[in-house]
Amino acid sequence: LASTEVDLSAMQVGQAITAIWRGKPVFIRYRTEAEIKAAEDVKLADLPDPQADKDRVQKAQWLIVVGICTHLGCIPLGQKPSDPRGDYGGWYCPCHGSEYDTSGRIRRGPAPKNLLVPKYAFVEDTKVRIG
Ligand code: FES
Repeated sequence: LASTEVDLSAMQVGQAITAIWRGKPVFIRYRTEAEIKAAEDVKLADLPDPQADKDRVQKAQWLIVVGICTHLGCIPLGQKPSDPRGDYGGWYCPCHGSEYDTSGRIRRGPAPKNLLVPKYAFVEDTKVRIG
């Protein structure tokens, strides 16, 4: 399928789900106020791949990123509440230790780039079409 629709209406604040788009995992996180603030407060100069949070989201509460580490393609941990999320509260890649923040940006470790933001559009308030 070229695009996939995901219904977010049952999600709770702080929850994450993984959708599949073109065979790839897409992480959708319903960010808390604290996670949004953490993402927005980071100075661009502190980022290996500088990108403002507002340029990575359409609605601040919904972070949508391709769940593939930009180092060598492992799937980072952080979707389950029991998963390690690294020191920046986003995702932790178990393969070589890359750590991503609550905007999916690389903060530490060998990955060169932020988690990719796929093309998406909200077709309803809580329904998103990815792709
Ligand atoms: Fe993720 Fe190497 S594949 S850190």
